[in-house]
Amino acid sequence: MKAIILAGGSGTRLAPITTAMTKQILPVYDKPMIFYPLSLLMLAELRDILIISTPRDLPMLEALLGDGSDLGIRLSYAPQAKPEGIAQALIIAEPFLQGSPACLILGDNIFYGASLDGTLAEAARLTRGAQVFAYRVSDPERYGVVEFDAEGRVTAIEEKPQRPKSSYAVTGLYFYDAEAPALARRLRPSPRGELEITDLNRAYLGHGQLRVTVLPRGTAWLDTGTPDALLAAAQFVQTVEARQGLKIACIEEIAYCKRFIDAAQLSRIIAAKYPRNDYGAYLEGVLKEQD
Ligand code: TTP
Repeated sequence: MKAIILAGGSGTRLAPITTAMTKQILPVYDKPMIFYPLSLLMLAELRDILIISTPRDLPMLEALLGDGSDLGIRLSYAPQAKPEGIAQALIIAEPFLQGSPACLILGDNIFYGASLDGTLAEAARLTRGAQVFAYRVSDPERYGVVEFDAEGRVTAIEEKPQRPKSSYAVTGLYFYDAEAPALARRLRPSPRGELEITDLNRAYLGHGQLRVTVLPRGTAWLDTGTPDALLAAAQFVQTVEARQGLKIACIEEIAYCKRFIDAAQLSRIIAAKYPRNDYGAYLEGVLKEQD
């Protein structure tokens, strides 16, 4: 399975912070936002990743992450000329996917929780249909909302409903089989001019091929699209990291622990990128602990 990070958008709600650059480069406490979705893909051992962003922001993301070889992964880049919807990512990614199933994650979504590794590893084995994740939120009307029947089966998904039929929002992490680009090409833009990911998910639901997994309440799913949400996410990361002395979404640590890179390579990264700072000192500690 290949993976896509959709890291463009207009960032209207975060302006003026996002007037000159994408939110995905903004810090969430001690690292750029895109490290969080990237680390999730790495934890799922998805190592062939396409990053889609605006033509304006791609060079900066590329300067930040390069081709991924220093982390033992493969990063490619593709532009989305205009923010014409999340489902458009699958059309843009079609030449990259070459018929492979895809994991799509939004560049501003943060997931954190103990059982996520196993859940993701299982989802990454998908070859038919689609799998999405639902999460209980206090403000479902801002998201795609899942409707369940009495047996807990999903009967419908509604995009930003005024009267949500449940409190379960669809998160920004999706797994699709090889049909997704063709299905996305058949979608029509919504009234707001976007190819809606909810419409793609509905297409799978209509064919009886959508699996919706409810994330347990012990999982954190944070989005970072407003100033308050961005600050709350940073505070969450700071609190957990300070308490445990472990970092969330440290991509170099994950690459090392997953054996994508060896100790010599981690030492080279520290010397080249993080000499004499706390992030580098943390990675030195990772090296010592694994000795
Ligand atoms: P949104 O939060 O829906 O949109 P946005 O980031 O443009 O922000 P705002 O609503 O404040 O204008 O996007 C969710 C994620 O998907 C975010 O990481 C940006 C990304 N995205 C794209 O890259 N291209 C798109 O066409 C859309 C709709 C979103």
